[in-house]
Amino acid sequence: MTALLAPDAPVLDEDPFSDENIANPYPLFERMRELGPAVFIAPHGYYAVGRHEEAGIVASDYARFSVEGGVGMSDIRKPGAWRARSPISEIDPPEHTRVRAALQKILSPLVVKAWKEQFARHAEEVADQVVAKGSVDGVADIAEAYVLHVFPSVLGVDVPPERIKLTGELNFNQLGPNNVRMARALERAAPIMDWYQQVLQREQMLPGGFGEKIYQAEDAGDFDKGTAPFHVRSFFRAGVDTTIAGIGSTLKLLSEHPDQLARVKANPALLKGAFEEALRMESPAQVMFRTTTGEVELGGVRLRADTKVGYHMGAANRDPRQWQDPDRFDVTRQTAGVHRAFGVGAHVCIGQMISRLEAECILGAVLRRVERIEPAGPARWRPVNTLRTLDALPLTLVRAEGAAVP
Ligand code: HEM
Repeated sequence: MTALLAPDAPVLDEDPFSDENIANPYPLFERMRELGPAVFIAPHGYYAVGRHEEAGIVASDYARFSVEGGVGMSDIRKPGAWRARSPISEIDPPEHTRVRAALQKILSPLVVKAWKEQFARHAEEVADQVVAKGSVDGVADIAEAYVLHVFPSVLGVDVPPERIKLTGELNFNQLGPNNVRMARALERAAPIMDWYQQVLQREQMLPGGFGEKIYQAEDAGDFDKGTAPFHVRSFFRAGVDTTIAGIGSTLKLLSEHPDQLARVKANPALLKGAFEEALRMESPAQVMFRTTTGEVELGGVRLRADTKVGYHMGAANRDPRQWQDPDRFDVTRQTAGVHRAFGVGAHVCIGQMISRLEAECILGAVLRRVERIEPAGPARWRPVNTLRTLDALPLTLVRAEGAAVP
C-alpha cells in the first residue's frame, strides 16, 4: 500500500490518566483539541481524538476504526490484554447488526415504557426519604439508592449494591491503561470474582427480567451459543455506573446553578434537557477506543495502522467548534442526538432510553418536592480511568412550601 501523504498526527507527551488529569480533564482536553484532530499520546501509544466532528467519525466509521480490538485501551486480540471481549460492543457489522437487532427486540421502546410505573413508584419513595432528611449525599442517597434498585430489578438479578459498584469500577478502570488505579480495582474486586461469574448464569436470572430474555434469545439462535452470560455482563458493565454518574452530575450542576434549577421547576419539560446537558458537560463514559484497520487519514493527519484510537467524548462534548460557550450549563441547549455521551453510529448506546427514564423519574420526583437544592460542602470526583463520576455530593434539599411531609 502507498503511504498517505498527510502529515503524522502531532505528539502529545501527557498522560490523560494522571491523577491531575482524571480529577480535572478539561485543561488537557483543550490542549488535545488545539494540537490537532488526532494526537499521539506518547505515554500510552494511542491516538486521542478530542474534537466533536472527528470523534463522531472514529465512533462510527467501522471500516477504518474497528471495535474488534476492543473498546478499551488494551487490544483484546493480543497477548497481555487485560480485558475479555463483549459479544455486543466489541464486534463490527455485519455480525454486530444481527446481535444488536436481537437485543433491540428485548429492549424495545414498548418494553422500556412498560417499566415507567415501577420506576416512578420507586422514585417517589426515594424522594420522600431524602426530602424528609434534608441533608443528603446526592450520590449515595439519591443516584445510587435509586439506580442500584431499579436497574437490577428489570435486568432480573439479585445483587448486593456494594458488589455492583466494585465490578463497575473494575470495568471502567480496565477500559483505560494498565495503571495503579486498575491494579487497585482488580485487588478490591478479586474476592468477588467467582461470585461475579456465577451471578451472570442462567439459573440466577429472575423470572420476567430481561436477563432471562437474553438466555431465551440465545436458545432461539439469535446469538452464538455460550454468549448469553457475556451479554448480561455487558449490561451490568454499561448500564449502572453511567446512569448513576449522569444523575449525580445533573444534581451537582442544578445545585450550583439556581437560575437553571428555577427554570426547570417552572417548566418541568426542561428536565430532559438538564440531564442531557449534564451528560454533555460531565460525560460519564469519558473515552472509548477503536483500532485502525490500516493506515488512515483523519482530519488531514495520518494515523498508523493497527493502532488504538480513543475518542474522548468528554473533550468532544466541550469542543468550541461545535458548542457555543461550551463550559456554560444551559438546560435549554439542544444537545440530544448531538452530544457524544451515548456514542454515535452502530454502537450508539442501546440503553439510552432506560437511563433517560431513570433520570426523569428520580430527578422529577426530587424536584417536585423542593424549593431549592443547595451545595452543602465540596463535591468529590471518584478517580476512575474512564468514568467521570462523583464519590460525594453533599446537598441540602430545601422543601417546597406545601410539599407533603411523608
Ligand atoms: C447515562 C447513561 C449511559 C451512558 C452515558 C452510556 C454510554 C454509552 C456509550 C458512549 C456507548 C457507545 C460505546 C462505543 O462507542 O463503543 C454505549 C453503548 C452501550 N450501552 Fe450505554 N450508556 C448509558 C446507559 C446505558 C444503560 C442504562 C444500558 C443498559 C441497558 C447501556 C447499555 C449499553 C450497551 C449494551 C452498549 C453497547 C451497544 C453496542 O455496542 O451496540 N447503557 N453506552
